Amino acid sequence: GRKFFVGGNWKCNGTADQVDKIVKILNEGQVPSPDVVEVVVSPPYVFLPVVKSQLRPEFHVAAQNCWVKKGGAFTGEVSAEMLVNLGIPWVILGHSERRSLLGESSEFVGDKVAYALSQGLKVIACVGETLEQRESGSTMDVVSGQTKAIAERIKDWTNVVIAYEPVWAIGTGKVATPAQAQDVHAFLRDWLKTNVSPEVAESTRIIYGGSVTAANSKELAGQLDVDGFLVGGASLKPEFIDIISSAT
Ligand code: 13P
Repeated sequence: GRKFFVGGNWKCNGTADQVDKIVKILNEGQVPSPDVVEVVVSPPYVFLPVVKSQLRPEFHVAAQNCWVKKGGAFTGEVSAEMLVNLGIPWVILGHSERRSLLGESSEFVGDKVAYALSQGLKVIACVGETLEQRESGSTMDVVSGQTKAIAERIKDWTNVVIAYEPVWAIGTGKVATPAQAQDVHAFLRDWLKTNVSPEVAESTRIIYGGSVTAANSKELAGQLDVDGFLVGGASLKPEFIDIISSAT
């Protein structure tokens, strides 16, 4: 079976004091055992070392991005090697905010995923359609195109989690219905089965992101192909503990 996965994407939020408070909440929360749920939180780069050192050992940390190749003269970037060097196991790549606001193409995201994996990082790779794309009926084309750009560049999917995050659901309070999420997750799993392999389709976690809260996580988690969540806003609040607990 696929182990339930809950990621907390803090995005560009937090002061040192707020980070202390969030870590305290995470460390004191009652959650299912790490055999049942894998928990990864993703603070901004500058807080990664302190969060990693203070966080309960069964929770792990992720960077929110990294550079597309070996480090060097790339002002403002952080390389995959640096994350590995600091013992940061995970990185989120291709988040829709980076695709839309920073202009990251699917090819560029695919290159990043391939390079990060080659350096030993585990990757949460994000895909998802805009409202306009959904309304024009191109959701499945968009998410398969984004996944294809990754599939063309990697062989081993062991260290990849796919996050389906419909852009219209991110930060809007407009969560996908369980049926909408399940439809796309099942489509992506089938796409992997046909285009990669049945084994990869069976073992790769496909998690949902977009306005996940403690109030809707249980029902979403009950869907056959929903293997967990990537949580934004609610990952900064005590309810993140309840979302983690929706694994059981
Ligand atoms: P919200 O949970 O705030 O909608 O954000 C989702 C997200 O983008 C996680 O990566």
